[in-house]
Amino acid sequence: MAGGAAVNVSGGKEYSGKMTNFVFLTCLVAATGGLIFGYDIGISGGVTSMESFLLKFFPSVYRLQEKSDSTSEYCKFNSEMLTLFTSSLYLAALVASFFASTVTRVFGRKWSMFYGGLTFLVGAALNGAAENLLMLILGRILLGIGVGFANQSVPLYLSEMAPAKLRGMLNIGFQLMITIGILAANLINYWTAQIKGGWGWRISLVLAAVPGGIIAVGALVLPDTPNSLIERGHEEAAKTMLRKVRGTEEVEEEFRDLVIASNDSRAVKHPWQNILQRRYRPQLTMAVLIPFFQQVTGINVIMFYAPVLFKTVGFGNQAALMSSVITGVVNMVATFVSIISVDKLGRRALFLEGGVQMLICQIIVGILVGVKFGVTGAETELSKGYAALVVFFICLYVSAFAWSWGPLGWLVPSEIFPLEIRSAGQSINVSVNMFFTFIIAQVFLNMLCHMKFGLFFFFGGWVLVMTTFISFFLPETKNVPIEEMVFVWKNHWFWGKFIPNEALHIESRTAIAAAP
Ligand code: BGC
Repeated sequence: MAGGAAVNVSGGKEYSGKMTNFVFLTCLVAATGGLIFGYDIGISGGVTSMESFLLKFFPSVYRLQEKSDSTSEYCKFNSEMLTLFTSSLYLAALVASFFASTVTRVFGRKWSMFYGGLTFLVGAALNGAAENLLMLILGRILLGIGVGFANQSVPLYLSEMAPAKLRGMLNIGFQLMITIGILAANLINYWTAQIKGGWGWRISLVLAAVPGGIIAVGALVLPDTPNSLIERGHEEAAKTMLRKVRGTEEVEEEFRDLVIASNDSRAVKHPWQNILQRRYRPQLTMAVLIPFFQQVTGINVIMFYAPVLFKTVGFGNQAALMSSVITGVVNMVATFVSIISVDKLGRRALFLEGGVQMLICQIIVGILVGVKFGVTGAETELSKGYAALVVFFICLYVSAFAWSWGPLGWLVPSEIFPLEIRSAGQSINVSVNMFFTFIIAQVFLNMLCHMKFGLFFFFGGWVLVMTTFISFFLPETKNVPIEEMVFVWKNHWFWGKFIPNEALHIESRTAIAAAP
């Protein structure tokens, strides 16, 4: 379809944008789905560094690490068996998100959250009681399925429930819960590692049942979103829900837009085939590139391996664990910056500022580490001041991620898809994210061993690419009602030509201004 960028169209709708108690509470409960993901990210690094855990499940890895003291600092933690344990969860989540897509679309968002919490709960129990590797891996797979379901449904739920003007803020509740989960896991590991008797790891693993239980019970009391209710044919219930969520009787206009979106949605029988159509190319591109970019910021090198990384650059045991708690706190606190500013400054400003800040920090950390260890990685003692400088720049890097790619990597994909491909699109987002989380978890220690301090420049290079990409190709989506997002694409200098005029439903909508 021709036209595109030349047609200046805009939905221009003003829906109610109030923060009602109802919307706040439902979003708060739903956001707790992020806890299970965060807990996983934070827990495995610490557990796999506990001697008793290694001796029980990975004795050969344990012996290898004991022996490897004499090798280069960059290589002493490199062991693929162990990283496979950490990263297998992300593969399970990847596969699960495709099943979650159907559950989310056909049965509603809340049931995906519920199944997610439930499988996670069972996985946690199995892991805590593990007597052999099979139980451990089965548990990990169940946890992964839980994460796949939750990450597929929670961001969609939040973006659909929230009024447009508060969507960024409410959606980022999910990321906030991820960071709380990571920090809680770090602190718990810090404590259980000191338990004499060698069963501390069981506590770390079984405590995953707490966030699992929270979201499972939470999902049971949550209402479904108006969008999903209409999609499944419950129009009256949807209207009542919309009034309740928005805290006003005046929801006619928004309701009509939801119905239009839903009619489109019902006409689509095969969302997976549909998403490949040219008209969805902008959204598909984002669903693949945003999660990919989020992972190649290198953030999970810090999240998974902070203790290892800090040990590598010369910190002692306690200092290394402490430093990872510090980065965990910075990660959580800095998320509030995006909560406060995302609906005012917009997504692009945060992406661009965060990208520049991350890049500068990566270059500095790369230089600091390179200067001390060179390419040989021979052991050197870092002075206190030098070590503090490294931690300082890592914290600046983490905070930039925490207000840019962290939250926006979940927010933006959840708000850009039209209803008919929303579930499918979100599955692609989750699975790409999990795939690259897996890859990073799997190959990082190996990369550190071979690329040495160059690793920081490697991720820095990607940050440069993604920041440039955002500046040219991501339109601003703040304050735009979710079912009106098509206008944003239509107005974009590059993506506009992909959107056919029929996709705008000019005849069914009001307040559309078509400029020559
Ligand atoms: C990412 C995770 C990351 C976390 C750190 C999330 O948005 O998806 O991979 O570990 O942020 O806070």
